[in-house]
Amino acid sequence: MKKFIQYLPKVELHLHIEGTLEPELMFELAVRNNINLPFNSITEVKQAYNFHNLQSFLDIYFQGANVLINEQDFFDLTWAYLLRCKNDNVMHTELFFDPQTHTDRGIDFSTVVNGIHRALVKGTTELGISSRLIMCFLRHLDEESAFKTLEQAQAHKDKITAVGLDSTEIGHPAGKFEQVFKQALKQGFLTVAHAGEEGPAGNIHDALNLLQITRIDHGVRCTEDPALIKQLAAERIPLTVCPLSNIKLKVFNFMEEHNIVDLLRRGLCVTINSDDPAYFGGYMTDNFLAVSDAHSLDKAEIAQFTFNAIEASFISEDEKKALETVTQRYLEVHQ
Ligand code: ADE
Ligand code: ZN
Repeated sequence: MKKFIQYLPKVELHLHIEGTLEPELMFELAVRNNINLPFNSITEVKQAYNFHNLQSFLDIYFQGANVLINEQDFFDLTWAYLLRCKNDNVMHTELFFDPQTHTDRGIDFSTVVNGIHRALVKGTTELGISSRLIMCFLRHLDEESAFKTLEQAQAHKDKITAVGLDSTEIGHPAGKFEQVFKQALKQGFLTVAHAGEEGPAGNIHDALNLLQITRIDHGVRCTEDPALIKQLAAERIPLTVCPLSNIKLKVFNFMEEHNIVDLLRRGLCVTINSDDPAYFGGYMTDNFLAVSDAHSLDKAEIAQFTFNAIEASFISEDEKKALETVTQRYLEVHQ
């Protein structure tokens, strides 16, 4: 099973590029950019990754991003992630970036997006990995700042497929961003949002109804509302679930308690993703293995996570067909 999972073709739909900053690269960039880190060693950094909720993680995550200054830094960060994708047989990835984390420190929007995009282009030509880029608004900031970010994105519309919403869920409802999402939709961006990670099922309703999103990031607290579960299954509204993240941030105490397999068997379009792998202990294969170790799944069920992710992705129908064929063949040969 381990080998089956390692080589299984995969699609990732929930990945924060800032969350792929491994401690080794953090130190390298701190030296390169002459930035003081509040850690003396890689061991110390790893010891700090002991989170008790989402906010305790976000504090460290925003601090880590301070070492990212120049376009080359964003390129190096993204390229390192794409090499991990290659290793895990990820065929396609749709990744988030948080522009405000950088523009609020005086870094140009174009520095960030150009560095990431250059690596993604190289990933396609040299590694055969296709990708889409999603720009997230930070929900702990106000809607005016989100509007300003949307304005900055206008010159880069060719590189950005969708807008999303991340950061502190509790106390920052989706409704706060209703107007900016409306505007983004009008401009042709697709929309997603984090909801039902730490916050209640009502937040998923709000994200769907107020922001008109086409897929939900996390969404695991949907189980609190049976009518919502029925709607998600009937309409095949995708959930981009992040198993290791949910354990690290105490959304569930143990992987055995995680509801992802239950949701899969109830016909929801659930997918497996790594969220912030440098902070949560694993990339795509690690997340698949963690779910498979804790739950009894057959090979067809494991491959269903990939089929769901293909269905939920923002690529064309032809591109979806091609990825489905590769996955179907893999499943048939390795059954
Ligand atoms: N930003 C990075 N990771 C996040 C998560 N899991 N939830 C909300 N915001 C995030
Ligand atoms: Zn996330």
